[in-house]
Amino acid sequence: MTSTTLYTYSDYFVVEGGIPLRGEVEVSGAKNATLPILFSTILTEEDCLITNVPDLLDVRNTIKLLRNLGAEVEQAGNKVFVRPTINSFTTGQEIVRLMRASILSLGPLLGRFGRAVVGLPGGCSIGARPVDQHIKFFQSAGAKVEIRNGYIYASVDKKRGVHFSFELITVTGTENALLYLASVPEESVLENIALEPEVMDLVEVLKKMGAEIEVRGRKAIIKGTERPRGFIHSVIPDRIEAGTFMVGAVLTDGEVLLKGANPDHLGSVIKKLEEIGGKVEKNGDGIKVSRRERSLKPAYIETEVYPGFPTDMQAQFMSLLSLADGRSVIREKIFENRFHHAQELNRLGACITVRGNTAYVNGVKELYGAEVYSTDLRASASLVLAGLVAKGKTTIRNIYHLDRGYEKLEEKLRKLGARIERERED
Ligand code: EPU
Repeated sequence: MTSTTLYTYSDYFVVEGGIPLRGEVEVSGAKNATLPILFSTILTEEDCLITNVPDLLDVRNTIKLLRNLGAEVEQAGNKVFVRPTINSFTTGQEIVRLMRASILSLGPLLGRFGRAVVGLPGGCSIGARPVDQHIKFFQSAGAKVEIRNGYIYASVDKKRGVHFSFELITVTGTENALLYLASVPEESVLENIALEPEVMDLVEVLKKMGAEIEVRGRKAIIKGTERPRGFIHSVIPDRIEAGTFMVGAVLTDGEVLLKGANPDHLGSVIKKLEEIGGKVEKNGDGIKVSRRERSLKPAYIETEVYPGFPTDMQAQFMSLLSLADGRSVIREKIFENRFHHAQELNRLGACITVRGNTAYVNGVKELYGAEVYSTDLRASASLVLAGLVAKGKTTIRNIYHLDRGYEKLEEKLRKLGARIERERED
């Protein structure tokens, strides 16, 4: 348990590159599954136990938010116990500004109290990230929704079933709708839903709470329950953390066994990694990754909704392709502004040009240590990966972004042989 570890905004990493990652690493529970599951506890009056919870800033902030709403929450190791004695339907703004996922309190608060006041969310600076689809869903479900003074005010007089089709596929939008509908006893249909494994993990939890949910292609049929029950649930492994270590193994020409990683959640990532020159084998309850060929091949990558290639792996693959033998093209189709890491990678000697939503990565022979700045969670991970192969010392600042989503990253990397230290400005 590291709940005593206090991350600060002045933390930075110093990485000495050049050591291949070798050994075993345990994959943590998925951040993006944990957050909606924590918010689902708002729906019930019964106790809930969530296991395999990663200790991350976003998780701690969600726990704070639940406590502010009146819940009793205990975090011990990777277990979180919630007694949802919630007595408020207003989130305040302090925490929601730090974390876009706080929008996920809207569905369950409205479901439980018929009213919700939720601060407009913040989060990584990776694009405009509107919440219009969330709001359109709640309006079509009969809620009155108003946005004023930085808050979303929502209320519903009589909860009823709804047939709603999302105009675009949204992960938290789908989750918010499911969270709300789990408390509506009439049948509802959602179309054009997100099918990310994290959404499906939430579906499992909502079923444990008593909702009937059937997913057919991109359609979900839901019949909720007046009194959602408490539950015990173990969070799925984090496919993005696993994917990040997989890239690390190939990039550094090492060999890493990812214990607990689920290859079924990583199909598109494994396919690309193999195309570029990685060797990926299923091994007991994990995945073993190394390099198949001496040189890395360039690739074309387009980010897509699941089961396509995840936007959350785009930055890490950019680091990998920086050292490929030729020119790669990466097209970002989910977020319009998720290439901040390109200019930082260029400081390390990469040769990347960005035009609109496309990055052209001309492979170079070597990267060199320098001082770089993290701009968002996955961008930070890409810089750490690049630092692991760069010649000399790389300093990565603003790693608070990384602390939102990677559990004990430096400890895990050190176990694999990396020379990485967390330092702090006085
Ligand atoms: N969008 C809208 N309107 C909406 C909702 C989304 O236009 O109402 C747009 C977004 O601006 C974006 C696209 O739709 O261009 C997809 O956004 P989505 O809603 O799916 O993203 P999200 O739910 O905000 C989650 C993850 C992200 C991950 C994306 C895509 C959580 C807490 N966050 O975000 O994770 O990148 O899905 O898979 O689940 C991360 O972990 O680093 C991270 C950013």
